[in-house]
Amino acid sequence: MSLLSVHNLKKYYSSGLVKKRHLIKALDGVSFDVKLGEVFGVIGESGCGKTTLGLVLSRLEKETDGEISFRGIKLSGKSKLDPDLRRQIQIIFQNPYESFDPRLSIEQSLILPMKINRICNSHSEGRERILAYMREAGFEPPESFLNRYSHELSGGQLQRISIVRAMLLRPSFLVADECVSMLDLSVRASVLNLLLDLVEREKTAVLFITHDLSLAAHVCDRIMVLYLGKVMELSTAKCIKESPLHPYTRVLMSYSPSIFRKKEKISIKRLQMEIVDGSGCAFVSRCPFSFEKCIHQVPDLFEIEPGHLVACWLYENQ
Ligand SMILES: Nc1ncnc2c1ncn2[C@@H]1O[C@H](COP(=O)(O)OP(=O)(O)O)[C@@H](O)[C@H]1O
Ligand code: SF4
Ligand SMILES: [Mg+2]
Repeated sequence: MSLLSVHNLKKYYSSGLVKKRHLIKALDGVSFDVKLGEVFGVIGESGCGKTTLGLVLSRLEKETDGEISFRGIKLSGKSKLDPDLRRQIQIIFQNPYESFDPRLSIEQSLILPMKINRICNSHSEGRERILAYMREAGFEPPESFLNRYSHELSGGQLQRISIVRAMLLRPSFLVADECVSMLDLSVRASVLNLLLDLVEREKTAVLFITHDLSLAAHVCDRIMVLYLGKVMELSTAKCIKESPLHPYTRVLMSYSPSIFRKKEKISIKRLQMEIVDGSGCAFVSRCPFSFEKCIHQVPDLFEIEPGHLVACWLYENQ
């Protein structure tokens, strides 16, 4: 059953000076759904619209157009959310230092959202719950961290606290935006495992945003590949691992180490032409397999087998 449905979502920014304004199509007609308890990966290189998607779904940015519904309730077009829906959608950012108020202690940072959302009846009940989660997150003894401030913790410790802060609110949908990419390699696995253990136990669905296809293939149930704000491919992680179809996914994969069964080396074409009018495939100027039609027509999303969607003319007749 779908928890979240997104249809033809668009988010445009205008940029540049007044006379030279141009539109940036950060999201340009994205559609997908996220099922209850699913870890749904969003992958693509920098600038393809991943963070924008996370911000729009968690209602920190408003969409330009398109529909979003959550538990069958329409979120798009609304500027204010019902407080309980607001609680159910939480986000973890890439840089934990930017997501904590440096003037608040860890205890204050954790208990305030619980009180606002009426998760606990008293301060002591809230504190007990915080201590239990912190213990699970590897803080021993947890009491000794409560009076500290965010700048007194390491990046890995603070990211574990931000996972705790989000999960204390019992969300049913969590956006995790590159949540380990800023951390030292040595602590990434422990932060990731904490996140995955908690969401599995609480049956929380996750929008797992990353630029790392092998990481996505490792932790996600399904994966959506974005390029310049458009969906290139969407399928199960297993299918993406074993039989990726879109040329962009295959390029990403050939640059990713080890875990993929099918080894092929595809190089991205050097930019030979700048396609700016949006009349063709978004990937055409870099695609090693492009042909005439790709320049003039935006490919449809073809369903190659149930649930495996590919936006590429190579699969038009399959
Ligand atoms: N607030 C903004 N104003 C103008 N352009 C933006 C803004 N936020 C993002 N963008 C642009 O939107 C595109 C997608 O950005 P983003 O969602 O941050 O990509 P990603 O997270 O995949 O790196 C980029 O071209 C980026 O420069
Ligand atoms: S539609 Fe054409 S340019 Fe786009 S990915 Fe497919 S082959 Fe490449
Ligand atoms: Mg980003």
